[in-house]
Amino acid sequence: MSLLTRAEQALSTHFEQAAGVGAPPRLVAAMRHAVFSGGARIRPQLCMAVATACGDDVPQLTNAAAVALELMHCASLVHDDMPAFDNADTRRGHPTVHKAFSEPLALLAGDGLIVMAYRVLLQSGVQHPERVLALMDNMTTGVGLPDGIVAGQAWECETSADMGQYQRAKTGALFVSATRAGALSCGFEPEPWAPLGAFLGEAYQVADDIRDVIADAASLGKPVGQDILHSRPSSAQALGLDGAIAHFDHLIDQAAASIPMCSCRDMLCQLVQLEAERLVPKAVYEGYFKTHSGVASGRISEKH
Ligand code: IPE
Ligand code: IPE
Ligand code: MG
Ligand code: MG
Repeated sequence: MSLLTRAEQALSTHFEQAAGVGAPPRLVAAMRHAVFSGGARIRPQLCMAVATACGDDVPQLTNAAAVALELMHCASLVHDDMPAFDNADTRRGHPTVHKAFSEPLALLAGDGLIVMAYRVLLQSGVQHPERVLALMDNMTTGVGLPDGIVAGQAWECETSADMGQYQRAKTGALFVSATRAGALSCGFEPEPWAPLGAFLGEAYQVADDIRDVIADAASLGKPVGQDILHSRPSSAQALGLDGAIAHFDHLIDQAAASIPMCSCRDMLCQLVQLEAERLVPKAVYEGYFKTHSGVASGRISEKH
């Protein structure tokens, strides 16, 4: 079974169990819309890949940890799209939750998903309470203060912000939680896996900034041109497109190089490389540079 299939199946099973019976149907529908609308599932796949490298001795716990992180991610997207934040009409090629269901239900759906993430973790760990505690601590680090998603989003409300700190908190922190969770769910020391999450997470946000400039809304499934519109710190603005692409390539190289020696190293390197090509496809940026300047970009690395 592929990691993607495993992630989808685990999400589906845990969501139905945790939603239970008798909850307000429109709220459950809004939460389902937020989760099952075609995300790439990179965070749960990363968690599962690292767990595989660590022996994956309790796969149900790995699944729960991966699902909890994806639920947190989906919650963050619901709130991020709301009028108080980015005011986006589309996400993953569908209307955003507040567009499809109303603002009150979007607010509650995000809240409901955050609580569901804790519930999934709590209910999965009867036989390994010490691992669950460590996983919960790890998840709160990726989502909360001082350096998780909530802090990252809040940097947008300050008069000035350091771009690296903002990106690491907004996006990188949950990637670090994902790789660390893979190790923790197997009772392994998580720190050797943190750099993979950190480099990949930073690359992910740089890619998001690049795509905000060169991609189109139809292929991304969400609005583009948002960083300029909302005056957000962006690698593409700070480094120029060529500079941002070179930075992305360097981060991908660093992510691959950081993978600890283990029997799954090749599988993990391949996952990193596939993500790099999915995030910033060569055809897309070369097409953009041809159209906009008549010159090919100076992308520096093809060697992953
Ligand atoms: C989007 O994340 C938000 C960022 C942190 C850049 P993803 O690109 O992983 O979104 P989905 O889950 O695939 O929709
Ligand atoms: C969203 O960041 C990351 C979150 C923590 C929710 P962005 O606002 O830059 O990402 P998109 O473009 O909406 O996916
Ligand atoms: Mg945002
Ligand atoms: Mg946004």
